[in-house]
Amino acid sequence: LKNGVIIAVEEWNARGGLLGQKIEIVWGDDQHDPKQAVAVANKFVNEGVVGVIGHFNSSSSIPASTIYRDGKVIQLTPASTNPLFTERGLWNVFRVCGRDDQQGSVAADFIVRKLKKKKVAVLHDKTTYGQGLADETVKALEQAKIKSVYYGSITQGDKDYRSVLTALRQYDPEILFYGGIYPEAVLLTKQMRELGMKTIFVSGDGVWAKEFPKIAGKAAEGAFITFTPDQTKIKEAQEVIRRHKEKFGAGVGAYTVYSYVAGVLLFEAITATRSTDSVTIADYIKRTKWKTALGPLQFDKKGDVLVSPYVVWEVKDGKFVELQ
Ligand code: ALA
Repeated sequence: LKNGVIIAVEEWNARGGLLGQKIEIVWGDDQHDPKQAVAVANKFVNEGVVGVIGHFNSSSSIPASTIYRDGKVIQLTPASTNPLFTERGLWNVFRVCGRDDQQGSVAADFIVRKLKKKKVAVLHDKTTYGQGLADETVKALEQAKIKSVYYGSITQGDKDYRSVLTALRQYDPEILFYGGIYPEAVLLTKQMRELGMKTIFVSGDGVWAKEFPKIAGKAAEGAFITFTPDQTKIKEAQEVIRRHKEKFGAGVGAYTVYSYVAGVLLFEAITATRSTDSVTIADYIKRTKWKTALGPLQFDKKGDVLVSPYVVWEVKDGKFVELQ
């Protein structure tokens, strides 16, 4: 997320900044902890920031968003997918990515129609995102008349998940759907294989990180992960991808282009309205048809994008491959 914002700011500052001033970035680290997220949000409000690009985790973005609302700060999350972020009627929130109700249906549809599997175990990491995505997937599976054979949770940061894996193995699941992020996905897949389980691992955008196949190695092979269609094929994204490679020597991360776009939307809105008033900027962002590095983009009244497709990726030979 940082890299995307850095590129956007450099680009704009090279052109003279905003309203005659250079853009200054103030960084915060919520350490993936809701309490820290609130502390960071309060710090930003006190420092008088104009807008926030972030946070990453829904469990941080959601509690932070009310602090930003009260402090009259606009918030654009590039990555938080839990529906609640935009479902509470806050005027100051925007989500550049998709939502877990869409993501959960795509996962369930894939399990039922493409994989043609019926025995699904479900685990989540008890976070807003992890549990939310697991529950959306369960809901969509139930609509397809599939009741999960096991539903349970793990604790983030634990190192040994063999007891829960042994418990769910009794139900002989064909699929393990996991709602959570990649560090635990690495351990779950590795320990599943160590226990001799052949269960197919399915998860969402939180696991779409190159670290997952890199660290889990063979254990990640054949895992299916829902995420956006390949961003490297979007023609409007080519320039930011190239600049990222040039500056950071690596390909973009899952949500780098999203954070770049969030930054650009904020800067363009400030330029167009000649204002740093958050209500004015929010109103402008909501009523504009945007052309962005992710292609054309428009927000609804809640601050969600009108279109945000999800597809399924498979881990093959240590890489994510988009399925057709
Ligand atoms: N999409 C993940 C979340 O919402 C990163 O927490």
